[in-house]
Amino acid sequence: MMLFLSFLLSFFLSPQMMAVLSKPSCLAKISAICLAVTFIALFLYFEPQSPLCPSTSTLADELNADDTEKPIFLLWFWPLGVRFDFKICSTYFNISSCILTDDRSMYSRAEGVIIFHRDIDWHLNNIPKDPRPSFQKWIWFHVESPTNTLKIPGLENLFNLTLSYRRDADIVVRNEVTVKKEEMKDVFVLPKKNNLLCWIVSNNVASTGTSTREKYYNELSKHIKIELFGSAHTGRRLSYEDYYPTLASCKFYLSFENSLHKDYFVEKVNGPLVAGSVPVVMGPPRENYEQFIPNGSFIHINDFPDAKSLAEFLQRLDKDDKAYMGYFEWRKYYKVVPHLLSMQNEFIHPICLACDHISKDKEYHVVNDLYEWYFT
Ligand SMILES: *[C@@H]1O[C@H](CO)[C@@H](O)[C@H](O)[C@H]1NC(C)=O
Ligand SMILES: *[C@@H]1O[C@H](CO)[C@@H](O)[C@H](O)[C@H]1NC(C)=O
Ligand SMILES: *[C@@H]1O[C@H](CO)[C@@H](O)[C@H](O)[C@H]1NC(C)=O
Repeated sequence: MMLFLSFLLSFFLSPQMMAVLSKPSCLAKISAICLAVTFIALFLYFEPQSPLCPSTSTLADELNADDTEKPIFLLWFWPLGVRFDFKICSTYFNISSCILTDDRSMYSRAEGVIIFHRDIDWHLNNIPKDPRPSFQKWIWFHVESPTNTLKIPGLENLFNLTLSYRRDADIVVRNEVTVKKEEMKDVFVLPKKNNLLCWIVSNNVASTGTSTREKYYNELSKHIKIELFGSAHTGRRLSYEDYYPTLASCKFYLSFENSLHKDYFVEKVNGPLVAGSVPVVMGPPRENYEQFIPNGSFIHINDFPDAKSLAEFLQRLDKDDKAYMGYFEWRKYYKVVPHLLSMQNEFIHPICLACDHISKDKEYHVVNDLYEWYFT
C-alpha cells in the first residue's frame, strides 16, 4: 500500500516537476528521491507498529515549543500491562491540555503521576521513590468496587487525588448521560428486536461477588426466557463488533453488577442505553441510579417483590408497545455516548481525564485515609 502511496506522491509531484524532469541531470536526482521515499515507505509499512502499541521514543525528544506550557503527566504503570496510544486522548476525547508520558525519567518534572492500584506491589517497592517534587500530585487510580479491592497497606498520606467511578472521588470516571440543548423529536428509531431479554456475562467467579446475581438469574430464568451471551455461560466470548448489535436486538437487558456498592454501576448500563435496549438493573438502590441516569430509562429489580413478578412485568411490556416505548422518552432530552470497546477501554478514558484534571487543578490536596474513604 505504501508503495502505491509513494507512486502517487511522485505522480502528484510531477506537474510542478515537469520542467525540471526534462533536464537529464535532475531526472537522476528525482528518481533517487523517489527511490528513497519508496524505501522509507516500505520501512514504515513493515515496521510492526499497530496504533495501540506506542513507540518507545523518549518524551524529551518529542516536546514541541508550544507544549512547554502544558503540564507533564506521568503514567507510572501501564494498567495490568495493557498499552494504548496516548493520542486517543485528543482524537477520541478531545483532551490535549497536558502531555501524557510513560517515560519515568520525566518524574522530577511531572505535575501529576497516576498510579494504578492493582499494580502496586504489596511492599510498595514499585512506586516512585522520594524525593517527590513539591508541586507534584499523585493520583490513586482504581476502578473496581470495594468487594474487589485489595487493601495494600501503607497507602495513607501518599496520594493527593482519587480517581474512581464514585461521585465523591476527586476525578470521577463514568459514562455520563448529558443534556441536549434542544428537545429532539422523532429521531429515535427502535432497533429491530429478535430477543426479549438478554444477558452478556463473562465473569461468574463467586469470589468477585457474583453469587447474588447468579441466584437471581436462576430464579428469573424459571419464568422468562433469557438469551445468554459471553464466556461465562456459553463458553464463547462475544466479539466487540457484535456487542452493540447484540444489545440492540434485545428488548430488555440484564445489567447486573458483580457486587453491590454505592455508585457502582458501569458500562453494563451504558451499553443498552446506547444501543436502544432497556436495562434491567441490579446494583445500588434505584435512587442511586437516578442520580446518574433518567428514572424512566431503566427497570430496577427492587421495584418488584420477586423475580417472578419482574418476569411477568417484562412479558406484559412485551405486548404493550406504547408502554415499552415510554422507556425511550428520555432520549428527547438527554443523550448517551458509546463507550470504547476493548481491553483498554476501562483505562484510556480515566487516564485522559486525570491528565486533563491536572492541567486545571492548581490546589493543594492530600488523601489521608484512603481506605476509610473507599470502604465506608
Ligand atoms: C475540543 O476542546 C476544545 C478546547 O477545550 C474546544 O474549544 C472544542 O470545542 C472541543 N471540540 C469538540 C469537538 O468538542
Ligand atoms: C421521575 O422523576 C420525575 C421528576 O422527579 C417524577 O415526576 C416522576 O414521577 C418520576 N418517575 C418515576 C417512574 O419514578
Ligand atoms: C501531595 O500529598 C503528599 C502526601 O500526602 C503531600 O506531602 C504533598 O504536599 C501533597 N502535594 C500537593 C501538591 O498537593
